[in-house]
Amino acid sequence: MKLVDIYYKMKKDIKEIEKELEKNIASDQLVLHRSSNQLLQAGGKRIRPVFVLLSGRFGNYEFEKLKKIATALELIHMATLVHDDVIDDADKRRGKLTVKAKWDNKIAMYTGDYIFAQALSLITEFDHPDIHKTLSNAIVRMCEGEIEQIRDFNNWNQSLKQYLRRIKRKTALLIAISCKLGALASDADTAYARKLYRFGYNVGMAFQIVDDILDFTATTEQLGKPAGSDLRQGNITIPALYAMHCSKDKEVLREIYLQGQVNEQMDEVINIIRHSEGIDFAKRLAQRYIQKAKDAIIDLPTIHEKETLIEIGNFIAERTY
Ligand code: IPE
Ligand code: IPE
Ligand code: MG
Ligand code: MG
Repeated sequence: MKLVDIYYKMKKDIKEIEKELEKNIASDQLVLHRSSNQLLQAGGKRIRPVFVLLSGRFGNYEFEKLKKIATALELIHMATLVHDDVIDDADKRRGKLTVKAKWDNKIAMYTGDYIFAQALSLITEFDHPDIHKTLSNAIVRMCEGEIEQIRDFNNWNQSLKQYLRRIKRKTALLIAISCKLGALASDADTAYARKLYRFGYNVGMAFQIVDDILDFTATTEQLGKPAGSDLRQGNITIPALYAMHCSKDKEVLREIYLQGQVNEQMDEVINIIRHSEGIDFAKRLAQRYIQKAKDAIIDLPTIHEKETLIEIGNFIAERTY
């Protein structure tokens, strides 16, 4: 199923959130206005706000409240992307020029900060310490995850555990708290909030694993962002780790590695990984997380939105963009 079909019933609410996103990044400062709109206008899957809204249905659904949380989470996501494109030196995102490419790194750093601050300002309207605590904790962990990624650059001896811990922090937690905050803002049962958090966490792990697979298997056109760039940048993800340590091609890869030729033979290395069992291993791992996500919400009330969460989970496992 396509995302537009899955989102169909929420179309009206999503449109409202789009308006809210636009409203919250509007600025009198022309450069800031344009730079923050650059990423917004390019679209995006809006998975985080959708999870906020769907999770909100397990409590007292008040769109006006949820709208703020949903907008804030998409803004935080956007801010991290603007910064991430500086770190990755990426020119394309969502099929458009990145802020760093259209302007420069300095503008991109402040644009990210600006979008981030606008997100926080939306959350100040909540008199709910748990919401603030959950959010700030996730952001702290995200920064740690990004730094761990830099620390682990070019480290072919990192463990699977290290990889999982990093993607948990950099990606899964924000998705997990999208679900949790949706539940909290709707005063849902705390047991429901916990289950939704587990759902989001597991979906988030699968989401990043699939992103890491697609970096090897998809094209730049399909992704709207540069494909094949993780390894070039030194970011060793699960398909690469598995290929190097466990696949049939491990000897060839090790030879290249031991001779210190990884960078010189990058195209060859990427090609070997693309056709290695590392891809299948990663796919199975992602599937396992999706299954765990579905199991986490098995006891939640059988409302239509539960089915939608499951459909998004299935979409994530099979997505090609
Ligand atoms: C990209 O996130 C960054 C990762 C966590 C892999 P998305 O794939 O959700 O990006 P958009 O918002 O749809 O562009
Ligand atoms: C996700 O990692 C980035 C953040 C969590 C900010 P990636 O570096 O894989 O994201 P893409 O591939 O550039 O979208
Ligand atoms: Mg990146
Ligand atoms: Mg990526």
